[in-house]
Amino acid sequence: MARIFSGIQPTGIATLGNYLGALRNWVALQDGEDECAFCLVDLHAITVWQDPEALRQQTRQMAALLLACGISPERSILFHQSGVSAHTRLAWIFNCVARMGWLKRMTQFKDKAGKNQEEVSTGLFVYPNLMAADIHAYHATKVPVGDDQLQHLELANDIAEKFNHDYGVPFFPRIEPLVLKESARVMSLRDGTKKMSKSDPSDFSRINMTDSADIIASKIRKAKTDPAPLPERMEELAERPEARNLVGIFAAVTGQAQQQVLGQFAGSGFGPFKEKLAEALVVHIGPISQRTREYLDDVPALDRVLRDGAARAEAIAGPIVAEAERLVGFLPR
Ligand code: AMP
Ligand code: TRP
Repeated sequence: MARIFSGIQPTGIATLGNYLGALRNWVALQDGEDECAFCLVDLHAITVWQDPEALRQQTRQMAALLLACGISPERSILFHQSGVSAHTRLAWIFNCVARMGWLKRMTQFKDKAGKNQEEVSTGLFVYPNLMAADIHAYHATKVPVGDDQLQHLELANDIAEKFNHDYGVPFFPRIEPLVLKESARVMSLRDGTKKMSKSDPSDFSRINMTDSADIIASKIRKAKTDPAPLPERMEELAERPEARNLVGIFAAVTGQAQQQVLGQFAGSGFGPFKEKLAEALVVHIGPISQRTREYLDDVPALDRVLRDGAARAEAIAGPIVAEAERLVGFLPR
């Protein structure tokens, strides 16, 4: 049995991108052989300013959504990152293993910091070290992520290799990314070259997992497309990122291959296609947002689920990180 670890930031409202690129795969994974740990990464969230009350609220909101999507708190370990101290303990060790040059190459940091490199928090810079610690604290070897996170996983492997080399033991295993190809990246509805993101200033760039049927329909109607009709083959969409994105979404929510979707709509304009797409999205997302609201109605129960998850997580990560601390030369706690 291997262990699977993944995390999601409890900031903003989860989008269709989070759902198709991450959450949906997590639900499928928990039915496999491997033990799954899914973490609401509140420590990562505060690398940029978070209003404290909003962070608490959004952590519960994200927990409710994961449960509504089908994450089972019995089969999986579902918890909040700050509830397990092993993460920060190992992250500090990794801050001292990773090299400045490695972190300076991280494209996500460059994107997020932009021209503002002197003003952003130091946490944002060492964010990938904490992410490496999240995974290695569990000796997890499989990590489902969107393809934007692959560079961070390579870094996590580099850190593990250097730790193993420096302390002369094969302590941290290699990790392997799990990226689902077909729907790996959902793009913005306004710009098919940018990923759909919960931090995009325009709400019309994304479908939120809490959007009502009317809102979904109007966002899809207004989604950017081009004047040409839908083609017969996917290859013909190579230069049409917005069209390709909508076909990809349609395929993902209806469980079809993209080519199959074209088979149905080839030659048609975007009007009728968008109508069917909106319908398919409403059928898929409506019940999830309904269940999310139900979980949020019982906050004490929700908090209990996370606390229990954190205790199970601690039981795995605590001893692994204690051994890392011993290898480094710290006295026992
Ligand atoms: P984030 O929203 O950045 O906290 O990402 C949480 C998870 O969702 C990560 O595994 C991301 O790779 C994934 N993800 C975020 N946005 C998208 C997107 N537009 N398409 C596919 N996956 C995404
Ligand atoms: N950095 C990831 C993101 O922004 C979230 C994350 C934090 C994560 N720790 C992780 C993902 C560990 C996988 C494994 O999407």
